[in-house]
Amino acid sequence: MSEPSSRRAVLTGTGIYLPEKIVTNAELAERVDTSDEWITERTGIKQRHFAAPHETASFMGAAAGRAALEAAGLAPEALGAIIVGTSTPDNAFPSTAVHIQAALGANKAFGFDLAAACSGFIYGISVADAMLRAGQVDSVLVIGSEVYSRILNFEDRGTCVLFGDGAGAVVLQARDVAPEDTKSGAGVLSTHLHADGRLADILYVDGATGRRDMSAHLVMNGREVFRHAVSLLAGAVTEALTANGLTAADIDFLVPHQANKRIIDGVGKKLGLAPERVVVTVDKHANTSAASIPLALHEAITDGRIKPGHLVLLEALGGGLTWGSALIRL
Ligand code: UT7
Repeated sequence: MSEPSSRRAVLTGTGIYLPEKIVTNAELAERVDTSDEWITERTGIKQRHFAAPHETASFMGAAAGRAALEAAGLAPEALGAIIVGTSTPDNAFPSTAVHIQAALGANKAFGFDLAAACSGFIYGISVADAMLRAGQVDSVLVIGSEVYSRILNFEDRGTCVLFGDGAGAVVLQARDVAPEDTKSGAGVLSTHLHADGRLADILYVDGATGRRDMSAHLVMNGREVFRHAVSLLAGAVTEALTANGLTAADIDFLVPHQANKRIIDGVGKKLGLAPERVVVTVDKHANTSAASIPLALHEAITDGRIKPGHLVLLEALGGGLTWGSALIRL
């Protein structure tokens, strides 16, 4: 856990990009043996965006990043670092982050990709928070950008109906917070990260450039992932609350990773949160992996639900397994 200090990582802007093409459940059912009824009942998903060939992780990430920088009022040349959570990079190298750096003209920033599957955004927030607190940089652009449509096996109806494409970004900037304001002041209060590589085989992509077989399709034992998800996520959010001497009643909004409405509801219920305090976008975006939390966060900030001063709890779980939480005061 990151200890409180006078230097804080404050969220100053958000931005998103969604591919133009929307595919509804009914449209998907024309090419896959499934139905709108099954997908809606089991997952809460109604539609997803699928990227066109030019909409790569770097293209979408740059658009989301540009919007986040504008919202923060931060010039690209002033940016210190770019972290991109992605499992679907344009190239094995260079990183998606340097493609985005070039597209934005963020010439002073360094950047790297972070591989933590659906937990990529939470991991990115945690690393950015540590870099900002340590004084290594004064600003970080944290992006989640994914094109899962390119790694889906459309012969496997158990997985191909669950995912979509998109990108979301936030700007974190270092600010000094007076010691008496450590609880009420804006900023990342804490992050908690976890991994259990013994569960690597229940959710993975079966190819990459380091192997001869580069078929690269997502493979998931959905039932097993589901079984672990609610308890591990409930543990990660309880850990965040306990570490900060808070209870669920102090949380204004839970912004969970958007994999399945049943998992989201399960965690909300365990916390005893009213449904209106849980941000849900899985119906519109499906599971966009590392992009899902910044997409949901942006929506709830721009529609006015999440306001300055609100305490927001983020959580995610994904391939690895990896999971974690971040507690942020806006
Ligand atoms: O972001 C990373 C984390 N990922 C997740 O959190 C995903 C976690 N897992 C899940 O969300 C759920 O396990 C799924 C949505 C993947 C599946 O829901 P489920 O309630 O666990 O269904 P199931 O896998 O147990 O399958 C139930 C039935 C099966 O038929 P039988 O064997 O009972 O006859 C499947 O063949 O549903 C069938 N099925 C489908 N039917 C229509 C599976 N996929 C589909 C489909 N359309 N797309």
